[in-house]
Amino acid sequence: MVLRKPLAVCVCLAYVASTVAQIKVLHPKSLSQKFHRAKIDGSTAAFGTPYYGERITGRLVYGESKGDRWCREDDYDIPPPLGDKERKLPNIIVVRRGNCSFVTKIRIAEEEKDAVAVIVVDTLGSSRTPSEIQRVIMADDGWGDNVKVPSILISDKEGSLLIDELRKNGNNVIIELAWDVRKETTVSMDFWITPAVEKSISFLREYSHYAKTLKHKLDFRPHYWIFSLPRDYKDLCIDDDATYCALDPDMAGSTTGKDVVEETVRQLCLWEKTAIVDHNVEQSGDYSAIWWDYVDQLPNACPMDGKGNKVFGEECSLGLMKKLGADMKQIQECLTKDKESILERERLSHAWSPLAMRINDWRYSGPLDPDLITRAVCSGFEKRPKECDTLLHPSKIDFENDFEKKEHEPEEEKGVPWWIVFVSIIGASIVVVSLFFIYRVWIARHLRKALRCELMAEMKQQMSTDDDTANATPQTNPEFNPNDAQM
Ligand SMILES: *[C@@H]1O[C@H](CO)[C@@H](O)[C@H](O)[C@H]1NC(C)=O
Repeated sequence: MVLRKPLAVCVCLAYVASTVAQIKVLHPKSLSQKFHRAKIDGSTAAFGTPYYGERITGRLVYGESKGDRWCREDDYDIPPPLGDKERKLPNIIVVRRGNCSFVTKIRIAEEEKDAVAVIVVDTLGSSRTPSEIQRVIMADDGWGDNVKVPSILISDKEGSLLIDELRKNGNNVIIELAWDVRKETTVSMDFWITPAVEKSISFLREYSHYAKTLKHKLDFRPHYWIFSLPRDYKDLCIDDDATYCALDPDMAGSTTGKDVVEETVRQLCLWEKTAIVDHNVEQSGDYSAIWWDYVDQLPNACPMDGKGNKVFGEECSLGLMKKLGADMKQIQECLTKDKESILERERLSHAWSPLAMRINDWRYSGPLDPDLITRAVCSGFEKRPKECDTLLHPSKIDFENDFEKKEHEPEEEKGVPWWIVFVSIIGASIVVVSLFFIYRVWIARHLRKALRCELMAEMKQQMSTDDDTANATPQTNPEFNPNDAQM
């Protein structure tokens, strides 16, 4: 009996560390027992922001549709929170899939119903299994940028168990959500770049700082969106068969898809000829400082609307590589010999969308924000390296930063630390008690003296006059009333 509990904890920790657990039913037990390890896996939406490396615990509430075809905000009501203010858990809202886009559902739950996360249950009666659901992508309808909270799509079979429980026993279900990345010694990042497209370019530029800090701890692998067409329409491809094509980055401008395919080969050759491992790092990832400098500097050094030898294209690109110290002989060799094999590999290794990211072989969802991605990356290390602390709390060095100030606020805002307050109270009490005793001693002494005087006076009086005056004497001087001294 004694051993059983720690054992259970160990098993549980090992299990959390190695899996992407998404929903965990914490309460009630009768419900959690219906799921394998109390856990439900689902598909995370391609919009909204998962809480990477964190846990959210919340109360599950069912947003049961009243039958609005358009899922408007009054389609369902949310019951008031249970319990007192302090223990109020945030709402995680469950809704059924259907009648409107995922984004609309999630946005209403977030904006109108105060949800911190949303669980979408597949259409009633759907036969999709949990593992099939994990391959479904909750797509962005184009308005997903307005959504902040994360959401998960789960199967009808598992979701109906949740909904039945909520309907039968009220909103008494507590769950925990986690977006864990699989843990590895070094974290791998696959990034599918749509070359020369603004979103890719700006992400690479911003992320280069992070990559240069993580160096070999990150196993970065660039991929490029190269595709085939039935035939070449508008200079998108490098060959007549239209096998290797890329998007035209500036419809009206002079740069064509064909230029982009050529640039893709250059960037991949640069990566392959300069990325190295560091044998001093355990399971070192591929890293190339030159490549990160190149993607950071290319947009300014060789802009698409540039002039002469400073325009996006071969001459400018090779000039920049040379300036950054790449071995140009190796690059040239790669460009002539490996071009076809590189393009063929890229054409065949597509992700689920042109702009995509995988962390430790697991699909990343959420905005392409370097800080958020670093959070996801850092939660994927078996042993979190110190580089993560510098990247996620860069203000350790710069104390002017607002973020850091906010983090320390609870301690610093009080001004006086608790122990000084404590010591002061104790000190003040000692002084008060001492004064009281000194006063008592002083009073007692004076009382005795006074009484002696009174006594003497009395005796003198008695010797000279009658009894009446003698009885009144002690009250004539109330300052020495013995009752006062005993307060
Ligand atoms: C969709 O709308 C119909 C009525 O038009 C309603 O009966 C149904 O419950 C709605 N479904 C969802 C998932 O909201």
